[in-house]
Amino acid sequence: MGKTVSIASFSESRWRSLLFVPAHLPKFVEKAHGRGADGIVLDLEDSVPWPSKAQARQRLGDSIAQAGQNGASVLVRVNHGLRALCADLDVSVVAGVDALVLPKVESAEWIVEIAQEMLALERERDVLPGGIRLVAQIETPAALPRLTAIASAHSRLIAMALGPEDFSAAVGGQPTTDLLLGPNLAVLFAARAAGLVPLGFVGSIGDFADIPKFRETVRHSKTLGFAGALAIHPAQVAVLNEEFAPLPDELEWAERVVTAEEEAKAQHLGAFTVDGKMVDPPVIRRARALLAWGRSIPGDPRSD
Ligand code: COA
Ligand code: MG
Repeated sequence: MGKTVSIASFSESRWRSLLFVPAHLPKFVEKAHGRGADGIVLDLEDSVPWPSKAQARQRLGDSIAQAGQNGASVLVRVNHGLRALCADLDVSVVAGVDALVLPKVESAEWIVEIAQEMLALERERDVLPGGIRLVAQIETPAALPRLTAIASAHSRLIAMALGPEDFSAAVGGQPTTDLLLGPNLAVLFAARAAGLVPLGFVGSIGDFADIPKFRETVRHSKTLGFAGALAIHPAQVAVLNEEFAPLPDELEWAERVVTAEEEAKAQHLGAFTVDGKMVDPPVIRRARALLAWGRSIPGDPRSD
């Protein structure tokens, strides 16, 4: 293994919104940096038809430069099939790319193989070994029993997400809340247990026209523990940025908890009451996590 970089810089707030952009369409790519997304995912997979894949790869260097010009993270989603994957790795393991998104991941071994190939390419190209991270998309029921192994497959892996449309199609269903809640939670639990960032929301990614419904879905998903999500349309980005952040009253509650904790400590109390509810160490941890999340959001008056 080569030298790896710290993942401390990938705070949860950094990836509230990751916008998929079909990499063969200059009209989308050229303006993507202005859509407010924390990260731009240049897609070489499902949104690019086979005859256009070569063209998308050819212009990927320019697309990476365009996508990154406002400081957003730049990600590239590669294909799953080996022949296309090899061609994709060749153009995407380059300076300027923060992470690759791997679709249809079903095993830890798959991630390890790809990470090794990336290391060889990084060394050839004088790119920091281990510097390009990985995001795994879980899109098939076959992956579910292996989530624990997948989540801890490699130090490059920093986030996991359920692919709602592919997963629903793979089980012969529709992307409804009923179907998606179980697998989304399974991905969330595996990600948290391994220290990865859980990305997602419990709903269809394709239903971009109904923004109030999308907001409700994202708000609910935040209460489950998701930290950010992938999006397919610029209209979804603002909602993700707003919703994947602590609310002012959550921050005020968290401040009250840490203040009350100081007083409780002086009185040798492990459990005490704030707003009529019991507070003990896990509640204090939640309060501190909310304050840290709030501080880490760009533009937040409380940020450093
Ligand atoms: N990235 C960047 N820009 C996008 C965009 C995207 N994913 N989706 C739409 N836009 C732009 C459009 O170019 C348009 O820009 P303009 O106002 O400057 O002309 C604006 O946002 C409004 O777009 P709109 O007309 O509402 O959408 P559309 O009909 O052009 O496209 C989709 C709708 C769904 C086809 C398109 O959003 C898309 O291809 N999304 C990505 C799909 C994808 O990656 N799927 C695979 C992952 S699940
Ligand atoms: Mg897909």
